[in-house]
Amino acid sequence: MSKTRLLRATGLVLAGGMALLSALALAALSTSRVQADPPAQQTEAYCLSCHSNPDLSLTLPSGENLSLHISPDMLSTSVHSPAGIECEACHTAIKTYPHPTINFQNKRELSRSYYQACQKCHPANYEKTQDSMHAAAAQAGNQAAPICTDCHGAHDVKPPAQPRSLISSTCGKCHDQIYQQYKNSLHGGALIQENNPDVPVCTDCHGVHNIQDPRTALFRVNSPDLCAGCHANQDLMSKYGLDSDVYNLYNLSWHGVDISVYKAKWPTTWHNSAVCTDCHGVHDILKADDPASTVNPVNLLATCQKCHPGAGPNWTGAWVGHNRIDQNRTPFLYYTEAFYASFIPFVLWLSIIYVGLQIIRATVDRVRRNLP
Ligand code: HEC
Ligand code: HEC
Ligand code: HEC
Ligand code: HEC
Ligand code: HEC
Ligand code: HEC
Ligand code: HEC
Ligand code: HEC
Ligand code: HEC
Repeated sequence: MSKTRLLRATGLVLAGGMALLSALALAALSTSRVQADPPAQQTEAYCLSCHSNPDLSLTLPSGENLSLHISPDMLSTSVHSPAGIECEACHTAIKTYPHPTINFQNKRELSRSYYQACQKCHPANYEKTQDSMHAAAAQAGNQAAPICTDCHGAHDVKPPAQPRSLISSTCGKCHDQIYQQYKNSLHGGALIQENNPDVPVCTDCHGVHNIQDPRTALFRVNSPDLCAGCHANQDLMSKYGLDSDVYNLYNLSWHGVDISVYKAKWPTTWHNSAVCTDCHGVHDILKADDPASTVNPVNLLATCQKCHPGAGPNWTGAWVGHNRIDQNRTPFLYYTEAFYASFIPFVLWLSIIYVGLQIIRATVDRVRRNLP
């Protein structure tokens, strides 16, 4: 389809007019050097002479209307502007008007082609994205899978983590259901309502540019370490009055030992022993004393029954989970442990003394027997 037919008539007229104006302006500015091609890195004013027109647009074969308006206000907010990065740094094929012919059927095709420009200056991030779950989804035919510009924009690239909550809302643009759960969770609530820098954003658990499938056996056996990054940090946890031993004690529990054996020997074999998220939830984690929490005493039995269908009420009562044995919470276990803690050394010392006395006795007897 011809380019001119795609153009809106008004766009064409305006564009032509603007081109004339910009040529006149260029000539007026520098009578000494009249150039056909604008000098590299000073292209912005030239390009904007047409593209700052709010009505400039293009109808693609799909019928979609693509606005070609690039507002100077928007450009000025981009991290690239102060760095002197202008149009031609990304639009390397476009130097003047008329532009090279394009064959994009729809907006998405144009985006998926033009974002390749980011690779030039950010090769490391580009490489990472190619190994990600998002790239795999695109390869499998899901055109909605994100590319650089979906998360960062193209002409209005902002620092991506200011404020920190921007990270989670960026992911939330497409993963809305999870974002809603997360927003109502303890972690997400603290981030969004209190701007708390200590709680996890999406990328703390999933990574940023190299996001992998979180539903594999490998991700599962490693998931307690994700939580441990914060929950085993004593300084961080003491700020919230939380126990930083949960991870160590979990690792000593039946479930924890089970999972660490799989992690060491068969990390890619699915194993159902409980990891942190089986009991606490994933994106919907709540305080343990919240009545809606999956680990609140009201709901705990049902949580265990997901995997232990035969479990009865005594099951949770006798379970110490990832707690230190404690005088108030588990007095019976506490005193039993205290008893054994003193009784076992006592018995040991008693036997050592007994054996010692036996040896002395035997030696004395032998010496006596050998005396003339
Ligand atoms: C004379 C006015 C004019 C100037 C100057 C101009 N453009 Fe365009 N631009 C247009 C028009 C009109 C279109 C619509 C499609 C077409 O006619 O090629 C367009 C389309 C585009 C497109 C989208 C479609 C495509 O061809 O890729 C991009 C990107 C673009 N221009 C970038 C630039 C850049 C970068 C510069 C500066 C180097 C620039 N333009 C200078 C008028 C202009
Ligand atoms: C940092 C790289 C970068 C710079 C700098 C840049 N562009 Fe773009 N531009 C892109 C990308 C990527 C796209 C595809 C946009 C998308 O996916 O929506 C694009 C798209 C466009 C389009 C098509 C309409 C649209 O918004 O999708 C026009 C027109 C355009 N750019 C003009 C310009 C002009 C004029 C300048 C300079 C004032 C400029 N660009 C500077 C990367 C850049
Ligand atoms: C010509 C080289 C160049 C191109 C092309 C380019 N960038 Fe950049 N980008 C930079 C430079 C240089 C900086 C650092 C700017 C600064 O910190 O002042 C930067 C900064 C950034 C940042 C902010 C980093 C931070 O820590 O705040 C993001 C995000 C970003 N670029 C994304 C993109 C995307 C997306 C594209 C493609 C649409 C792109 N860049 C294309 C050179 C480039
Ligand atoms: C799924 C969304 C997403 C995609 C796709 C994405 N980014 Fe990012 N990017 C982010 C987020 C979120 C951050 C901030 C991470 C942080 O600070 O923890 C970030 C950080 C950055 C940074 C600054 C930190 C650094 O690593 O240097 C640059 C530069 C950047 N991205 C460039 C790119 C480029 C280039 C692409 C495409 C090849 C891309 N990003 C694709 C979400 C994305
Ligand atoms: C532009 C939309 C978009 C954005 C933004 C986006 N994603 Fe995705 N994400 C997708 C699509 C599409 C898939 C593939 C879904 C599929 O194939 O089932 C996907 C897949 C995933 C998966 C793999 C699990 C699955 O359902 O396949 C994870 C994990 C993920 N995204 C996390 C994130 C994180 C973290 C961010 C923010 C840094 C983010 N996404 C931003 C669209 C997006
Ligand atoms: C505390 C760590 C953590 C945080 C924070 C987190 N996730 Fe997840 N996410 C996980 C784990 C673990 C899984 C695997 C759950 C499972 O086994 O189904 C997962 C699964 C997923 C999946 C794929 C499975 C599904 O349910 O569709 C997507 C997509 C996803 N997360 C996106 C996000 C987004 C978006 C955010 C931010 C709003 C986020 N995650 C925040 C740990 C986290
Ligand atoms: C980036 C650090 C970080 C990561 C990673 C993290 N958390 Fe948290 N978590 C916190 C902080 C900080 C709090 C306290 C928030 C508050 O009270 O405002 C918290 C609170 C909690 C609570 C509530 C405790 C209570 O009863 O008050 C639970 C349960 C929890 N996290 C479980 C998890 C699990 C499970 C994971 C792994 C899937 C995880 N967290 C990953 C930082 C983190
Ligand atoms: C088999 C279920 C189960 C598993 C697995 C589990 N928890 Fe818990 N967790 C609980 C229960 C029940 C409570 C609340 C009652 C209690 O303190 O024992 C709790 C309480 C907590 C608390 C609040 C503790 C406090 O100081 O008030 C945190 C934080 C926590 N868990 C994090 C984790 C982390 C991190 C993991 C993985 C390393 C994990 N949990 C694994 C069931 C579990
Ligand atoms: C995600 C599934 C899952 C959840 C949730 C779960 N467990 Fe387990 N649990 C297992 C598996 C698997 C084993 C290992 C069984 C084996 O090795 O024979 C196990 C073993 C145990 C054992 C020791 C062995 C036995 O069968 O007596 C106890 C005690 C136990 N779990 C208690 C609990 C309690 C209490 C809860 C709830 C707070 C709970 N579990 C939640 C999967 C789970």
